[in-house]
Amino acid sequence: MSYAIAIDGPAGAGKSTIAKRIAKEMAFIYVDTGAMYRAMAVYFLDNKIGAEEEALINAACDNISVAIEYDNGVQQVLLNGENVTGRLRREEVGVMASKTSVYPKVREKLVELQRALAAEHNVVMDGRDIGTCVLPGAQLKIFLTASVEARAKRRYDELCGKGEKPDINEITEDIRERDYRDMNRDVSPLRAADDAVFVDSSHMGIEEVIKTVADLFHENVSR
Ligand code: DC
Repeated sequence: MSYAIAIDGPAGAGKSTIAKRIAKEMAFIYVDTGAMYRAMAVYFLDNKIGAEEEALINAACDNISVAIEYDNGVQQVLLNGENVTGRLRREEVGVMASKTSVYPKVREKLVELQRALAAEHNVVMDGRDIGTCVLPGAQLKIFLTASVEARAKRRYDELCGKGEKPDINEITEDIRERDYRDMNRDVSPLRAADDAVFVDSSHMGIEEVIKTVADLFHENVSR
C-alpha cells in the first residue's frame, strides 16, 4: 500500500517549499494540487471564460485534460498536452484558480487525478482539502498555517527579490480575500482534518518546519 502525507493550509504558508523538501528526503513524489487548479484557470483565461460563468466553465471541463509528469523530480503540468508549468505562478492565474475552484465540476476532475497519483505512488500532496476530502485515509496529515502578516511579509520579500516594488498593504488584502474565498466556499473548503497536526510557521524558519514534519513522519512510521 502506498503512503501519503497530506499538507493543507492557506496560501503563502510555505506548503510547497516544505512539501518539496519532505518529498525529496523521503523519496516520495511531490504533488502540487494548486498547480492543477491553476492549469484549469489558464484554460479559462485563454478562452476568455469569466470566473462567474459556471455554465461555460462546466462545459469547458469536458474539453480540458490536465496531466502531471515529472522532469528530474520536478512536477510539470500539461494542459491539453501543452506544458503550462511556466505560466502557473502568475497572480491573475492564482486569483482565477481560487475563484473557479469553487465549482464542483472543476474539483471532481482534479480530485480523480489526485487520487490516481496517490494510489500509484508514495506522495506528499499539498492543497486545501487533501486531508479532509482527497485522501481522508492519508497516514500523516499536516495543517500548515501562518499569520496573515507573516505570509504577506514572505510574499513581499519574494517579490522584492525578483526586483519588483510591491505594496505590502495590497498583498495583505489579497491574502485576506484569498483566505476568505478558500475557507468559505460550499465544496471542500479549506479546513484542517480532525486528525491533522497543526504547524504554525509564523515564527519558524524553513529548516525548523521541515524538521517538525520529518519528525512527525518518522514517529508515524515507527508506530
Ligand atoms: O496553492 P495555490 O495557491 O497554488 O492554489 C491556487 C488555488 O487553487 C487556491 O486559491 C484554491 C485552489 N485549490 C483548491 O481549491 N484545492 C486544492 N487542493 C488546491 C488549490
